[in-house]
Amino acid sequence: MPDPYSLLKPLLFRLDPERAHGLGLRGLRLARPLGLFRAPALPERELRVLGLRFPNPVGVAAGLDKDAEAVAALFALGFGFVEVGTVTPRPQAGNPRPRLYRLVREEGLINRMGFNNAGLQALRRRLESLRRESLPGPLGVNIGRNKTTPNEEALADYRNCLEGLHELADYVVLNISSPNTPGLRELQSREALHALLEPLLECRDRLRPSLPLVLKVAPDLEEQEIEAICSVVENLGLEGLISGNTTRSRAEIASHALAGEEGGLSGAPLLKRSNRVLELFRAGLPPSVALIGAGGITRGEHAAAKLQRGADLVQVYSGLIFRGPALVTECRRSCLDVLQREAQ
Ligand SMILES: Cc1cc2nc3c(=O)[nH]c(=O)nc-3n(C[C@H](O)[C@H](O)[C@H](O)COP(=O)(O)O)c2cc1C
Repeated sequence: MPDPYSLLKPLLFRLDPERAHGLGLRGLRLARPLGLFRAPALPERELRVLGLRFPNPVGVAAGLDKDAEAVAALFALGFGFVEVGTVTPRPQAGNPRPRLYRLVREEGLINRMGFNNAGLQALRRRLESLRRESLPGPLGVNIGRNKTTPNEEALADYRNCLEGLHELADYVVLNISSPNTPGLRELQSREALHALLEPLLECRDRLRPSLPLVLKVAPDLEEQEIEAICSVVENLGLEGLISGNTTRSRAEIASHALAGEEGGLSGAPLLKRSNRVLELFRAGLPPSVALIGAGGITRGEHAAAKLQRGADLVQVYSGLIFRGPALVTECRRSCLDVLQREAQ
């Protein structure tokens, strides 16, 4: 039987990318009860990462389901974990449209969405209606600050989100790496990071000590910046790190007509850069800090390569747009091979 996504993709790609995204998410929700796109049963090797059980190491990256509208449907594709958000304390519309572009031949996306999301209270209601215990894998919530909150007050935004969502997530991601919220990436510097993480860890210890906190960083970091982040993460005892977000670099697509569009580049053109940064983080962090590798996975072997470079888990976003649900199965298969070989 042909892959149903190969029939749908030409239709979706004729639409504006953001409209296609909305339709795709709605379609997934509708398709779930009909069993369309249901993932094949594969042998799995359960993993324990961040103190949680994962049926497989392949997850949905943040931003794909910002408001947790399709969590169960995404799990039905075979993902081992799903991360929703980024959520901000107050709802926000994000940047004006158009703000999402496809680089079709390159299998890349450029986005400057700007944390469009329905806000903390709406996400709370959505997550309360989800029975988390019935999901096959962990649910992560990715949190950020509102565009109008200056960095000096960012801590209050992250703290509000943590206080509002700590009971509803299996792990929480502190996103300080979107290129589309002005100034956000400055929180990655040693002093700013320490000043943000220390009180957030205290807050977590007070609310729910067993809740893992994970930091999401950019792939546009110099070696010295990576060293500084590793030392803060290790000293404060943070549980995990996601490497990484979209890139501001256009080196891989310099001559493309869309190269001048503002925003973060993701998908295939990000693979090499994200793998390099992943290796530096693995070398710089103790094994006790879980590492999640994201960026440029468009084939199963790319997911496996991230595990081989030291990632404990991987995440996918853009690849799903270009390859559809078959990519999830491909990644699960390739990762299983790596995990089985490592276990021998
Ligand atoms: C349209 C779009 C929106 C995104 N929104 C978010 C977001 O809200 N929060 C976040 O942490 N990452 C966001 N990301 C980044 C992805 O989670 C991921 O880190 C990045 O795209 C690299 O993975 P990929 O190459 O598989 O897409 C977004 C990516 C895209 C393409």
